Amino acid sequence: KLPIAVLISGGGSNLQALIDKVEDGTLDVDIKMVLSNRAGAYGLERAKKHSIPTCTLSHKDYSSREDFDGEMVRVLKDAGVEAIVMAGFMRIITPVFLSAFPGKIINIHPALLPSFAGAGGQVEASEYGVQISGCTVHFVDEKMDHGAIIIQAAVPAMPGEDVETLTERILQVEHRVLPQATKWLAEGRLSLEGRFVKLASANVVKAELN
Ligand code: GAR
Repeated sequence: KLPIAVLISGGGSNLQALIDKVEDGTLDVDIKMVLSNRAGAYGLERAKKHSIPTCTLSHKDYSSREDFDGEMVRVLKDAGVEAIVMAGFMRIITPVFLSAFPGKIINIHPALLPSFAGAGGQVEASEYGVQISGCTVHFVDEKMDHGAIIIQAAVPAMPGEDVETLTERILQVEHRVLPQATKWLAEGRLSLEGRFVKLASANVVKAELN
């Protein structure tokens, strides 16, 4: 089982989707830790309810992004974590963090990248008047919301719909695609070919070898 950490900053509904899939047996990972940079994040309560160890590290306690990342790496490595799922984690990470988990950090973003990167992707999409929005799970690289795309899902934006409703409808699809991408990562089915993610049929390969 791949030992993962889920990084959050807020409500943790994506974390809950991951926990639910682990508990119903469709996602075979070991959630070793939920780490938040905000003490009040409700996602921490969700983790506690399922007896998952939690850790809060406030970025405000560190003088640089690198120092903060270094401490996160130390805590996560101590917990035996090998892969990272960012689920609403609202911090930009540095090479200090990236190089500690090479090829093993994924993030979910509430827009169809490369459109509407950065915080508030749903608000910008809504204000722009796009008719199709959605979400993206991608590998994390040194640029914000930039890494190779693993999976996307589209959500039609209704004319005149308020941003809260659109945000909620995007979240519903996030809860499907984030566990899916995490499952592929855990199965070792994702590899990088330049900007492209290749999805291997690991089960087929295994069957042939048996
Ligand atoms: C999600 O919509 C996620 O895509 C977004 O934060 C929300 C967290 O919700 N992430 C970003 O905007 C990252 N730039 P949750 O805490 O209920 O999972």
